[in-house]
Amino acid sequence: MSVESAAQAAYIVAALLFILALAGLSKHETAKTGNTYGMAGMAVALVATVSLAITRHVSSLGLVLIIIAMVIGAAVGLWRARVVEMTGMPELIAMLHSFVGLAAVLVGWNGYLLVEGGGNSSEALALAAQGSLGIHHAEVFIGVFIGAVTFTGSIIAFLKLSARINSKPLVLPGKNLLNIGSLVAFAALTVWFCISPNIWLLVVVTIIALLLGLHLVASIGGGDMPVVVSMLNSYSGWAAAASGFLLENDLLIITGALVGSSGAYLSYIMCKAMNRSFISVIAGGFGLEAGPADDKDYGEHREMNAEQVAELLQGASSVIITPGYGMAVAQAQHGVAELTRKLRANGTTVRFGIHPVAGRLPGHMNVLLAEAKVPYDIVLEMDEINDDFASTDVVLVIGANDTVNPAAMDDPTSPIAGMPVLRVWEANHVIIFKRSMASGYAGVQNPLFFKENSAMLFGDAKDRVEDILHAL
Ligand code: TAP
Repeated sequence: MSVESAAQAAYIVAALLFILALAGLSKHETAKTGNTYGMAGMAVALVATVSLAITRHVSSLGLVLIIIAMVIGAAVGLWRARVVEMTGMPELIAMLHSFVGLAAVLVGWNGYLLVEGGGNSSEALALAAQGSLGIHHAEVFIGVFIGAVTFTGSIIAFLKLSARINSKPLVLPGKNLLNIGSLVAFAALTVWFCISPNIWLLVVVTIIALLLGLHLVASIGGGDMPVVVSMLNSYSGWAAAASGFLLENDLLIITGALVGSSGAYLSYIMCKAMNRSFISVIAGGFGLEAGPADDKDYGEHREMNAEQVAELLQGASSVIITPGYGMAVAQAQHGVAELTRKLRANGTTVRFGIHPVAGRLPGHMNVLLAEAKVPYDIVLEMDEINDDFASTDVVLVIGANDTVNPAAMDDPTSPIAGMPVLRVWEANHVIIFKRSMASGYAGVQNPLFFKENSAMLFGDAKDRVEDILHAL
C-alpha cells in the first residue's frame, strides 16, 4: 500500500475516533474515555499528515523544522495543561482558539503567495488546468476572514476571562451598523477578489476581520461570556475547515466541521439555559444597548459568624447548597463534602442546586463535587430543584453570586435580566459565603444580600466551612 492510500485510511480512522470522542464527552461517566479517543485520533492524524508531507514535497530541512515545531508545541501544551487551574480553563481554551485562528490566517496567506501571488508557479498552473483557480481565490479570502475574526476575538475573550481587561460589554455608537457594515464589505470584497485577486484586497479584508473579531467579543460581556467561549470554539472549527479546503486535507475539513457544528450547538444550548437570544450573542450582543447605572439603595445587610451558622444548621431539617465560582477559587469542595456528610449523618436532608453557568465552565461545579466524592444523586440541576427552595430551612450560597441574583427576574433593566436563576431567597434562611460585598462576574449588585432572610458569612469559603465543621 502506498503512503498516500495508507494516510487516507488513517484519516478515516482518525475522523471516526473524533466522532467517538465527541459522543464520549457528552456524558459525565464516559468523558474520560471520550478524551482518550480524541488523543488517539489526534496522534493518528499527526503521524499520517507528517508521513504524507514527507512523501509529497518536504525536504529534510523541512522535516527537521516540523519536528522542532512539534517538540516546542508539545512541551508548551503539556506544561500549560499541567499547571492550569480548573478556574483558568476557559481562558486557556480561548487562547488555544486564537492559535487556530492565526494558523488559518497564515495558511490563507501562504495559499495566496503560492498561487495568486506566485506568478506562473506549478501550483497556480495545476489549479488553472483543473479550472479551479476561482475556487482557490474564494477559499483564501474566506479562510483568512474567519481565521482573523477568530484570532482577535479569542484574544479579547482570553483577556476578559482572565480579568486582564474589564468584562463589561463595549457599547460603541452604531455598533450593529459596524458589524453589519463589516459583513457587507466582506461579501463585496470576496466577489471583487474572485474576479481580480489583488493583494491589497486581501490586506484590507484581513484588517476588517481583525477589527470585527475584536469588536464582536468586546461587545459581549458579563453573563454572556460563557457562550462566547463555545462560540469561538465554533468559529475556530470553521477556520480549520477553511484551511482544510486550502491544504486539500480531508481530515482537517471533517474535524473543522465537527468542531464548528458542536461549538455552535453548545452555544445554542447555553443560550437557551440562560434565556439569551442565540443570534444576539453570535452577532456580538446585537441589539444590546447600555443599561442605566445601578445606584439604588438596597438598605443594610446582616452578618452571621460560623458558630451561629452551625447552630442554624443543627436545627435545620432540610438544607440546599448552591455553589458558585467562589467555591472553586477557595477550593472549598472537600470541606463542603465533609459538611454534607456530617449533616446527613445528623438526619438532615442535604441537596445541591447547580446552575448551568455556575463557575467558569460548563459542568465546573459537578466536576468539583464529584472530585470531593459528593454522591451524584443529591446533586440536582436548577430546573429540578428550583421549586423546592420555598420548603427548605437553610440555603448555603457558597461563593455564588450572579446565579442567585433575584434582579435577573425582578429588574428588567438589569444586565442579567431574563437569565434563569436559583430562587434561593424563597427559603427560610439564606447564608451567603463570600469575602466582601463585591459583585460577581457580571459586575451587577445583588439584592439577595439585603433581603430580610439573608445573612452574610464573610471570609474565604474554605476557612468558613472549616470553622462551621469545627463548631459542629
Ligand atoms: P460569580 O457571580 O462569579 O460570583 C462568585 C462570587 O464568589 C464572587 O461574588 C466572590 O465574592 C466570591 N468569591 C470569590 N472568591 C471567593 C473565596 N475565596 N471565598 C468565598 N467567596 C469567594 O459566580 P457564579 O454565581 O458561579 O456565577 C458565574 C458567573 O460567571 C456568571 O455570571 C456566568 O455567566 C459567568 N461565567 C460562567 C461560565 C460558565 S460556562 N460556567 C464561563 C464564564 C463566565 P467576593 O469577591 O466578595 O469574595
